[in-house]
Amino acid sequence: MPLDNPATDAFVDNLLSQMTVDEKIGQLHQYFAFGRFDPEVIRQGRAGSVINAAGALGGQGQSASTSAEVCNHLQKLAQESRLKIPQLFGRDVIHGYRTVFPIPLGQAAAWSPELAEQAAAVAAREATADGIKWTFAPMLDIARDARWGRIAEGNGEDPLLGVNVARAVVRGFQGDDFAQPDRLIACAKHYVGYGTAEGGRDYESGELSEATLRDVYLPPFRAAVQAGAGTVMSAFLDLNGVPATANRKLLTDVLRGEWGFRGFVVSDWASVKELIQHGVAADEAEAALLALKAGVDMDMVSGAYLNTLAASLAAGRVTAGELDEAARRILRVKHLAGLFADPFTEPSRASRDLLRPEARALARRFARESMVLLKNDGGLLPLDERFKHVAVIGPMVHAQAELLGTWAPDGQPSDVTPLSEGLAQAAPKGVSLAFAERADHAVRAVAAADAVVLVVGEHPLRSGENSNVSDLGLPPGQAELVEAVAAQGKPLVLVVLAGRPLAITRQVAQAGAVLYAFHPGLEGGAALGELLFGRASDGQPAAPTGRLPVTLPRATGQVPIYYNHKNSGRPVDSSGEFRYRYVDLPPAPLYPFGHGLAYTRFEFGPAQAASETLRGSLEVSAEVTNAGPRAGAALAQLYVRDRVGSLTRPVRELKGFQRVELAPGETRRIAFTFDIDPSLTDPEAKVQLTIRDDDLREEVDEKVRIPIVDPLAVTAASGTQHAHSTGADLTNEPDAGGRVFARLQPNAAVQVLGTVSGYVKVSLGDGRFAFAKASDLDSGGTPSAQIALDDAMAHAPPAVEIPQPQLATRDTHTTVRGAASDDARLLDAYIFVGSRKVFYRSNRNGADPKRMDFDADLPLRPGVNVITLVARENPDTTTHRTFIIRRDGPNGELLQTPKTEDELSETSDDE
Ligand code: BGC
Repeated sequence: MPLDNPATDAFVDNLLSQMTVDEKIGQLHQYFAFGRFDPEVIRQGRAGSVINAAGALGGQGQSASTSAEVCNHLQKLAQESRLKIPQLFGRDVIHGYRTVFPIPLGQAAAWSPELAEQAAAVAAREATADGIKWTFAPMLDIARDARWGRIAEGNGEDPLLGVNVARAVVRGFQGDDFAQPDRLIACAKHYVGYGTAEGGRDYESGELSEATLRDVYLPPFRAAVQAGAGTVMSAFLDLNGVPATANRKLLTDVLRGEWGFRGFVVSDWASVKELIQHGVAADEAEAALLALKAGVDMDMVSGAYLNTLAASLAAGRVTAGELDEAARRILRVKHLAGLFADPFTEPSRASRDLLRPEARALARRFARESMVLLKNDGGLLPLDERFKHVAVIGPMVHAQAELLGTWAPDGQPSDVTPLSEGLAQAAPKGVSLAFAERADHAVRAVAAADAVVLVVGEHPLRSGENSNVSDLGLPPGQAELVEAVAAQGKPLVLVVLAGRPLAITRQVAQAGAVLYAFHPGLEGGAALGELLFGRASDGQPAAPTGRLPVTLPRATGQVPIYYNHKNSGRPVDSSGEFRYRYVDLPPAPLYPFGHGLAYTRFEFGPAQAASETLRGSLEVSAEVTNAGPRAGAALAQLYVRDRVGSLTRPVRELKGFQRVELAPGETRRIAFTFDIDPSLTDPEAKVQLTIRDDDLREEVDEKVRIPIVDPLAVTAASGTQHAHSTGADLTNEPDAGGRVFARLQPNAAVQVLGTVSGYVKVSLGDGRFAFAKASDLDSGGTPSAQIALDDAMAHAPPAVEIPQPQLATRDTHTTVRGAASDDARLLDAYIFVGSRKVFYRSNRNGADPKRMDFDADLPLRPGVNVITLVARENPDTTTHRTFIIRRDGPNGELLQTPKTEDELSETSDDE
């Protein structure tokens, strides 16, 4: 939903003009009573928000749960404050409210943004029925290390899956307008890089390169912001030496500057005050100043803002404008949420809206689709009349609370269908089930059975916040249980309930079939029964459709492990020595990202491309056949590999996914539109496109290799003209006029790569190129006159304004920051240093189609550098602007303002 609204701005400005400094600071404080609720905090306007508004807080009992009555009571206190500014109640509504859905990692395993959206909408309806208006979700942290307990709360390791779920969940919570009584304000958290915590130890520091941050960690957040998320939460961690709660570049320059975010930022729990422990603030006052100036508008519970900002204002350490801005952002969201119009919740809603039958049905379906079949030798599953007596073994067979998962404070164990009940409901007539929770009973039950379902895994308290493990193996005792059961030689189905990928290499080898269920929520037991017996409660066939959203390691020592890693100079799949990653383990994971089987088998034909080159976008397709005996759903996954780039690229990157339902024997062609995007860093690269489903363990051979036609070369010159590089040269030396340009020698033979707005892009050999006026080339592609880069650049039509870049030196890199804007829609921008493309940014889904700001690290060499900014306005209008930068300070650093060619020639005499 759009967060812009002139009426809101006018309302809030007017309100601000009536507020005292203390009232403004109050809005920036999120209150938690820590056991001693003080109604005066609210009456005096010293809290803009209450977290986890609970019975205990409202003075109505000790319950940690909340209700419309509690929230209305607190709103009445707010109405007694001078300006009657309503409260905003925030709570962790993470994977459902009363209707508990699978944990987010399980939701991601369903690869179904549609279901994620529907589940978030149910959670919004239920939570708002109890008076909550703001959820601290979705959690969008990419996680590559399963030791980290919070991997349970996110969408796994892939940015594209993360982007799709982020959008869907924000839409599900907020709908078209979060002012609707049954909608929640979303909060994209934890911004950003939280999953990089070293060693998987929650709250620990992390390090990320700018490229990985932008390619992998930021995209889900950007997607949430573009989907209209009303709030963002800053993370706990210290990323690259700057605590996320004090990171102005990320919280302000990127979030607001680049993405146009208009909501407000809340800190994580006490993370403002924790800036002291991080070691960037000496005391509470400094911590508050750092966070506020970085862009954190609301202080979650630490009290640092409330306690210190008034004094800092009086001392001139913070300006009235800075305070106003933070208060304005919070009040805007409250106004957009309709709280000023009506802050109260209709108390009868809860009885109508909590745990509706259709919500339970959705939870069942989502749980079913979140489970991943890792292995199914000889078609052991689904269990059928082959097995008359089935033993169901394990510590969680009767469990209820344990199925809910890590963040379910409002779920009730008594609502949960235990596995034993779910299996009993789904078992066909004539099949008897014997349950055994304890290991010493298990052996007897197994002896009397034809097949065994052994349920192992983690208690939810072993996953989630601050629940990290140093060992990804099964919890103590369970491996022995599997050992003992397997030793009896009965057909063995292993069910794993967990909040993370566990390293279960030996147990997988011991079982005939393995079904992996991330904590599945209140309908998990019923869903599991349906999958194990292959039949849903409505009599329809049920089969697994989930796919891993994370890599399953063989051993703890393999983490961090993720599919989209770099190739390295010595890839493990090439021949020769010194290529194994560990002497004691094969290099591949146990199961890769994207893996998951069905009760049938799919065959994929080779991927085919609709064109031989990639220009802008390309349709790629493949045939998929259901080659097995049952109906099933394949999940076609499109991967790209950019073989040559100016920066190295991952061995595979997910670029699309589609589910296809197929009857036995049915064949369908599935098509993807693959767009050129920032992951393609080099114009002349070839990409490999692969469409696969379940068996990604071996790198596949049948790939389409597509040369990318340079995105700049919009109209490719017909019948590529050539010969090649002789006589072409780029020089870094000033010419006689003091001008420094690349120069094409007279009569050089050139390869014409394409034309842009009357200019022709010519290859100069060695991978370099320049632009020349089309009229300077004869029909054979040979220049009839000397072509200098300046010539071409100087005459490019100014379709888009490219302002002077601002530069800053950092070590050997230089940051350029520019903006391009005009009346036209701006598609994307490139930066070249010399002829090397070092930066590409698409504006396809930009917040503002007319403007783009970007930061780019430029690898400048000592001496003279030619940098060119290129902005595309539409597919055939491109604007270039070239600047000359000298890195010639005593240490090779620079920088004077970059000059355009003309400016440089004017001043060169004085230099
Ligand atoms: C967590 C957040 C959560 C907050 C409020 C913090 O400890 O990191 O994810 O939203 O508490 O409960």
